[in-house]
Amino acid sequence: MCGIIGYVGSPTSDNTLEILTDGLSRLEYRGYDSTGVAISNSSLDVYKRRGELTELEDVLPDQSTNGSAGIGHTRWSTHGPPTDENAHPHTDCNETVAVVHNGIIENYQQLRETLEADGHEFDSETDTEIIPHLIEAALERDGDIERAFRYAITMLEGSYAVAAVFSGRDEVYAARNQSPLVVGIGDDGYFLASDIPAFLDYTEDVVYLENGQFAAIRSDSIQISDERGAPVETPVETVDWSTEDTGKSGHERYMLKEIYEQPRALRKCLQGRLRESDGSVSIEAVEDMEKPKQIHVVACGTSYHASLYAARLFRDRGVPSTAFMASEYDVDTIPIDTETLVVGVTQSGETADTLEALREANRVGAETLSVTNVTGSSASRETDRVVYIRAGPEIGVAATKTFAAQLVALAMISITLTNDSAATFVEALRTLPELVQSVLDRSRAKEIATEYADSDAYFFIGRGYNAPAALEGALKTKEITYKHAEGFSAGELKHGPLALVTDKTPVFAVIPRDGNFEKMVGNVKEVEAREAPVIAVTDAAEAVEPLADHVLRIPQTDRRLAPILANVQLQLVSYWIANELGRSIDKPRNLAKSVTVK
Ligand code: G6P
Repeated sequence: MCGIIGYVGSPTSDNTLEILTDGLSRLEYRGYDSTGVAISNSSLDVYKRRGELTELEDVLPDQSTNGSAGIGHTRWSTHGPPTDENAHPHTDCNETVAVVHNGIIENYQQLRETLEADGHEFDSETDTEIIPHLIEAALERDGDIERAFRYAITMLEGSYAVAAVFSGRDEVYAARNQSPLVVGIGDDGYFLASDIPAFLDYTEDVVYLENGQFAAIRSDSIQISDERGAPVETPVETVDWSTEDTGKSGHERYMLKEIYEQPRALRKCLQGRLRESDGSVSIEAVEDMEKPKQIHVVACGTSYHASLYAARLFRDRGVPSTAFMASEYDVDTIPIDTETLVVGVTQSGETADTLEALREANRVGAETLSVTNVTGSSASRETDRVVYIRAGPEIGVAATKTFAAQLVALAMISITLTNDSAATFVEALRTLPELVQSVLDRSRAKEIATEYADSDAYFFIGRGYNAPAALEGALKTKEITYKHAEGFSAGELKHGPLALVTDKTPVFAVIPRDGNFEKMVGNVKEVEAREAPVIAVTDAAEAVEPLADHVLRIPQTDRRLAPILANVQLQLVSYWIANELGRSIDKPRNLAKSVTVK
């Protein structure tokens, strides 16, 4: 989804444009269809183009001609198609102010009509363009820039992160409501971004803006104030992500790098949380909690699959639990009370539907917990408690290492909350990173993927803890291969999906030797009888080989952790099919990493 970068350097700085375009390239992973920048010098220079960042770079002037304050934007279209006109920044009639915006302004139509009636002329179809015109109108009345910016923001209803630069002013103004914004404190200037990787090359010291806060950023200071204009003290935090984490480290694509980073991500997730002395787990954020009466787990996409896994785990440990797609979570129809724990699983911590579900849960007085990868994200700040999955930055749009880390974090939460003995589970968690490494080292996924890259469709089946792994295998395949892929709880196959199974639809069966093994064997035979190629993902290769066309091996482990190992194989399968098909793997069409609209 849309991304914002802003920078104010010293008055003599000559690298503003470079910092902005570099920031935009770091935001590309969020998904976008047009880009733009505005630089303030004696006037206001605005450049914007539909399409890739390279299209914008083609029309940018010599780097050294810029001023010291500027803003940039990657747009993911909502109001109006991706055109040069609809790209941000947007300006007022006199080009005194340029504005970039993330989010959706719900009352823009009405504001636009009023502004048009007053003679303002609009160039785009966006909701955003009302902001520079509102600022212009206020400036005509008052002349004070800060008050004009503040006035415009108070007129908005909806969600927004907004940044503005003014002609001839070395400063950037910003405000947020429900859409993230973070200030970076560098040695030679201040940064502003919707997402930390945008400026991570320059600084790791950040200040998170809260809903309703305003920021005025100058080359030598930042002023943060609340809705009424009163200054607020905000802590400076240091993020523990490095630029090395945001590079490709020799891999051709981020997704492959992130798949291979899983052992490290899991080690970090587990670090300091497993107590080997007594075989227990301590997740500080939930240690003092009573065993909840019931748990609701809310999430979207891949995180929803992690939620299905978590709900099963919580139920297995004696707590009634249900996973909900966050967009379907309706506290008016779902039994919820103050003894309910609502867990929001969201790697970004910014997914609009998940935030909305958590806010509703807060509103009715339930206890809320976020499980997220991003320190200081909206979810982390708006819930009673937060557990970080510590996977490090994930740039590929398709979630991989964050999914694995979510499952591990949720497993540890389930143990901590239920406080029952779990020595074998804890021991299995401890060895998990090594096991993931061994899957990565020995996987034959590439050759199998290549063999089946021209199939009509792909099906994924699993039971119990492995049903979410099947759903996730299919989602990954769909996202990056653009081919039809479906995941099923294996028992459901014969209730409809079997009609789709042919010799051109490989079936990936997650079939570890657990309590569901025999039933899975039955399901594999069902698809085999329809001549579908069967690829078994299993820790029981000898038993399964006679049934399957191919075997993707996983080592034996606790039955609750098998889906994590199986998923690594399935991630690699989807990756190599997409690679064979020449897809845009890190930035699949139509998808965004962080979905900040409902
Ligand atoms: C988008 C991404 C998915 C992700 C989902 C939830 O749809 O493309 O990969 O699983 O959002 O994201 P979250 O940040 O809440 O985990």
